[in-house]
Amino acid sequence: MNDLEKYFTENTGRLIHKWKHYFEIYDRHFSRFRGTDIHMVEFGVSQGGSLQMWKEYFGPDARIFGIDINPYCKKLEDEQIEIFIGDQEDRSFLRSLKEKIPRIDILIDDGGHTMRQQINTYEELFSYINENGVYLCEDLHTSYWPKWGGGYKKRGTFIEYSKNFIDYMNAWHSVQSGRLSVTDFTKSVHSLHYYDSILVIEKRPIEKPFDLKTGTPEIPDFHPPTSPLKSLRGRLKREIERLTRHSTGK
Ligand SMILES: C[S@@+](CC[C@H](N)C(=O)[O-])C[C@H]1O[C@@H](n2cnc3c(N)ncnc32)[C@H](O)[C@@H]1O
Repeated sequence: MNDLEKYFTENTGRLIHKWKHYFEIYDRHFSRFRGTDIHMVEFGVSQGGSLQMWKEYFGPDARIFGIDINPYCKKLEDEQIEIFIGDQEDRSFLRSLKEKIPRIDILIDDGGHTMRQQINTYEELFSYINENGVYLCEDLHTSYWPKWGGGYKKRGTFIEYSKNFIDYMNAWHSVQSGRLSVTDFTKSVHSLHYYDSILVIEKRPIEKPFDLKTGTPEIPDFHPPTSPLKSLRGRLKREIERLTRHSTGK
């Protein structure tokens, strides 16, 4: 049991509500920030117990920011803990947080869990996360729950939306398609970690990837024979792509 789960299990203070398997995930991605002057933001304050847990876990130099729509949450402020009241679906409120919070190293979205709330929060704040920071959106099971706007493979769910991140991260390898380009996302995301109900995005400045070889070859390379029909199809496809690019000026 890691320190976070121990804290949670032994908690007799303010209420914390988390799924049991989340603690291993938090510790895996957050432990490197312990003992630093980390700035953490958690959407979803509820009774304030998780903010107390983060404060204890990260230590005395950490600053913890909680966001909630419930005005009573403001009462739960404490040393190292600031709370802002607003609706995470409201883009102008989300943008205003950048003026109030000087830096974000970790953002946890444990707010209202609707599709719009999760997408708006990601779209407004992801680029504001520190270049070596972590974005964690939890309770993604709502992407499958109709009451929250979810449904299996339903367009507009956060899960479906986030599946595009896999392409954006790999855009270096598909620029020739003309449909995918290298963006800030490609250049700032090191890895995507999908767990049950959680997506963790680890940021890191990324250079164009390249491959290298070391050692000495011992056997000849093998090139499987291509059927004449297959190679003709390939040539035709490349020619169509070239002409399309030429006519659209791309
Ligand atoms: C799951 S609870 C948070 C649990 C807390 N993080 C914990 O670990 O104990 C969800 C919280 O999100 C808040 N919330 C719901 N809709 C919201 C919205 N649109 N904007 C901001 N907060 C919202 C609720 O008031 C509630 O306090």
